[in-house]
Amino acid sequence: MQVLKKVIIIMILVAPSLLSADFANLQNEIEWLNTSAADWYHIDIMDGQFVPNISMGLPIVKSIKKHATKPLDVHVMMLQPERYIDDFIAAGADVLTLHYEAVMHLDAALTSIRKQGAKAGVALNPSTSVAVLEPILHLCDVVCLMSVNPGFGGQLFIEYTIDKIKQLKQLIVQKNVTTLIEVDGGVTIENAKKIIHAGASILVAGNTVFTSDQPAETILKLKNL
Ligand code: DX5
Ligand code: ZN
Repeated sequence: MQVLKKVIIIMILVAPSLLSADFANLQNEIEWLNTSAADWYHIDIMDGQFVPNISMGLPIVKSIKKHATKPLDVHVMMLQPERYIDDFIAAGADVLTLHYEAVMHLDAALTSIRKQGAKAGVALNPSTSVAVLEPILHLCDVVCLMSVNPGFGGQLFIEYTIDKIKQLKQLIVQKNVTTLIEVDGGVTIENAKKIIHAGASILVAGNTVFTSDQPAETILKLKNL
């Protein structure tokens, strides 16, 4: 009997997090990333309230957009981010991700993002169960599972989030939707394989890329795991 082998090829997207880039040389950073294997540019917006840190805002997104040749993946860590949906999309966000914990009317917010032509994302803190997404998964192009408590780069990966990736993958299959799973925080060359096996297809990496001696090589390594 002939044995048929099914080969499944999973495309892994790598999104370097610019939070770990050199802010004084952002144009240079974007220019080398343009020539690298990076897929998206991950931009962390922090308001000092939803998370205990302040990072960048709308003018920086606009400036990055001028030089970027790849999609901007904007991760908004602020309270009531829905107030700025139009502004972030006008500034150049291609993927706009809001935190489940920070939005009052998530259905309306995701619908509004999609209506304006961007991809809609929802991020979950490590302590938030993926079950909360059950009713609205069909509105999510991307779910960003935080694998550190949001606010800072260079933190250690929280191990129990592997189970959350698996649970979310199951929910996606069950609901027959095309939502992509992004994992953000503490992603390294060492743990990336297990994150991908659990079901993720977008890896955000800040520290791992920007502290590397050969950052372009590191992006390739993550992509080809
Ligand atoms: C953390 C941010 C991350 C951060 C990841 O709140 O959302 O995007 O930059 O950085 P690393 O990869 O260094 O953990
Ligand atoms: Zn992020």
